[in-house]
This record gives sequence, structure tokens and C-alpha cells, in this order.
Amino acid sequence: MKSILDFNRARQAGRPIVMVTAYDAAMARLVAVSEADVILVGDSAAMVVHGLPSTVHATLDMMVMHTAAVRRGAPEHVIVADLPFLSFRQGREVAVRAAGALLQAGATAVKLEGVTGHEDVIAHLVGSGIPVMGHLGLTPQSVNQLGGYRLQGRSEAEAARLRAEAGRLEELGAFSLVLECVPAALAAEITASLAITTIGIGAGNGTSGQVLVLNDLLGLDAGFRPRFARRYLDGHAAILTALNDYARDVRGARFPAREEVLA
Ligand code: KIV
Ligand code: NA
Repeated sequence: MKSILDFNRARQAGRPIVMVTAYDAAMARLVAVSEADVILVGDSAAMVVHGLPSTVHATLDMMVMHTAAVRRGAPEHVIVADLPFLSFRQGREVAVRAAGALLQAGATAVKLEGVTGHEDVIAHLVGSGIPVMGHLGLTPQSVNQLGGYRLQGRSEAEAARLRAEAGRLEELGAFSLVLECVPAALAAEITASLAITTIGIGAGNGTSGQVLVLNDLLGLDAGFRPRFARRYLDGHAAILTALNDYARDVRGARFPAREEVLA
């Protein structure tokens, strides 16, 4: 995808939107030549790249650096970058500065979690020409308040709140929104009620598209296997085999071979 207009074009054409995260130029180059549509520089970078315990630990500097690297690897793609923890909760000025830094680093759009309490910021960003993607349901930056990573919108009261928040995001001018870990029927209902697109993760197949964390899709972490994140590669085993083959070849004097020696 070349612009945010392609989100609604895809939906109108009945083509599910394929989104995947990337954090560095090498992986962005691979995604860019793949059939995936959109790259998300998620604040999941804090966890999967930096080994931090939650996305609460993502910083603006971190997100700017990853966004710039991904843009260098994928010069033509739509890139959505996460606004990090609290950067959109300290008023319009701080939010605009943070979003501006992400756009100048190469993002096409920013994503932020939740809506209640920062409606003015969302409207102001959109009014400033910064495309905003919402993120509802399981919003990981609020993990301490949610009490863990679990399905959201199960009770009728929670479902009603999610419906209302999705409608509010559309009113405020968001061009799309992520629905994370919500019941499939609710995600489908919200999608049908909106004119903007929804991108699901752990939200069934009634959304306008799907997003996966690249490290999960590639199976890089042997110990992290949420049910909703399909593994398309056992990357952990594949990389471990390569590393051990290398170690054994060095110790067995099989690497470097004659043709690998520079004369
Ligand atoms: O940070 C991230 O990777 C995300 C996706 C899981 C939607 O926000
Ligand atoms: Na995120």
C-alpha cells in the first residue's frame, strides 16, 4: 500500500489488509518485497527487540530510531508507528511533537491506544494532517490497569463500551483501528458498523484485515505461543540449527573452506 486511502479501497474491493510489524531495515526490506500491505513499527519493539517487560517501557527515541530504520528498508510502503506510552496523554503539544518526530522519521501515520480522555488530541492530530490509527480492546500500554493480557469485551457492558469507543474514533477522524483480543462476533459487528477499516489481532476473521508481530509469525521466541498468533516458520529452531552448524564447523575446522579463504 502506498497511502492510507488504500485501506478503504481494499475494504471496498473485499481484499483483507495484511499488516505486519518490523523494527529494522533488514526485516523491512524483506517485508517490502513480500505480499504484505502495511508495516507497523509497533511499540512491541520494547519487548521483542529490547527485551523489556512490557510496552510501557517504549520511549519516543526508541520508536523514532526504529521508524527511521524501517523507512530506509521500505521506502515506498505505508508505515504506521506507535505513539509510545503516555506520549499522547500529556496534552496536544507533547502529542503533536511526538507524532511529528515519528512522521519526520518516516512514518506515514501514527497509532495510539484508547480514546477516552484524549479525544482532543486525536482530533488535533488528524486536524494537523497526521493520519491516526486507533487501537482498542486489549491495549497493552494499560496492562497494569487491565490486570494482564486477556480477552476484552466479554461482558455486555465491556462490549457496549468498545462499540462506543470504535464509533468515537471514527467520528474523531481515525482512518482505521486495531482491535486486539476481542470476541470475533463483536469485532465483526464493530467492523460492519464503521465506515473505516479494522485490523484484527486475536479478533477473528470478521475484521478488514489482520496484523501479526513479525517475531511471532516467524516463531523466533520458542517460549511465546499465544493461540491467535499463527507461526509460519519455526524460526527459533531454524536459527538455532544455523548457529550450531556454524559453531561445529569452526570447531571441526570445516569453516572457512578453501573457496572461502581470500587469496
Ligand atoms: O506494538 C504492536 O506490535 C502492536 C500490534 C500487536 C497491533 O500494537
Ligand atoms: Na503496540
